Amino acid sequence: MISLERVNAALSTEQGILPVLDNINLQVPDGGICAFIGPSGCGKSTLMKIVAGILQNYRGQVLFRGERIDPKKHTIGFIPQNYGLLPWRRVKENISLGWRVKKRGMPIEQSSWRKLLSQLGIESLLERYPGEISGGQQQRVGLARAFLMQPDILLMDEPFSALDAITREEMQAVFLELWQTYHVTTLLVTHQAEEAVLLGQKIAVLSARPAHVLKALDNPLFGNPAARREESFIRLENELRQLLGKAKEPL
Ligand SMILES: Nc1ncnc2c1ncn2[C@@H]1O[C@H](COP(=O)(O)OP(=O)(O)OP(=O)(O)O)[C@@H](O)[C@H]1O
Ligand SMILES: [Mg+2]
Repeated sequence: MISLERVNAALSTEQGILPVLDNINLQVPDGGICAFIGPSGCGKSTLMKIVAGILQNYRGQVLFRGERIDPKKHTIGFIPQNYGLLPWRRVKENISLGWRVKKRGMPIEQSSWRKLLSQLGIESLLERYPGEISGGQQQRVGLARAFLMQPDILLMDEPFSALDAITREEMQAVFLELWQTYHVTTLLVTHQAEEAVLLGQKIAVLSARPAHVLKALDNPLFGNPAARREESFIRLENELRQLLGKAKEPL
């Protein structure tokens, strides 16, 4: 379980101290997915960076299975919005990079490598550079890099927002298939209500900055792209939109 307990954070800026996270409390069970949705600038990326161990200046507790999350101890896959690929490295090197950094010298298990590449349909792209493949393919490479490490925690910051609508739906389905295979505990940031309902087993709606959890709900509709047009799906989507509308209003 990932447990966020009274997480508070402030960033120092030229204008002074900027409160960003205000008492975030949330629990995500092992193997679950939590989607975070909230107004632009409310603090979502900051929260991801804290869980990833990139930002350490916060108060409160960020625990994984009861222990303080530590990138040295836990394997954390982080897919930033731009996929985080190195343009001067071939696709195959980009995929193995996370593994090489984390597992230092341990050989990559060939059967998991082949299985993952075939599941993502990127076997033919290995020799290319990121600039020679499409956005959707880059996203697949980012997912391959993260899943190859068999992370304890997967963090995705608006992973599909730069993709066109059709590619986005395709990639959401690819992600769900991978998640169903590996069941990695995932935190995902999105600004789309539809994506939150599709991918969030749990959905946390955040307020405007400094972000606090306006509402956390369990979502039985998640994980089924075919449910997109169903009434209950659309109802929840609309409920989230309304909450987001309120979240943007000044207090
Ligand atoms: N390095 C930084 N220095 C100063 N202020 C920052 C820094 N990074 C972010 N901020 C500010 O902190 C607040 C939260 O930023 P954050 O990136 O977490 O928001 P977000 O919810 O991810 O927004 P978006 O939906 O637009 O990606 C914003 O007001 C932003 O301007
Ligand atoms: Mg952000």
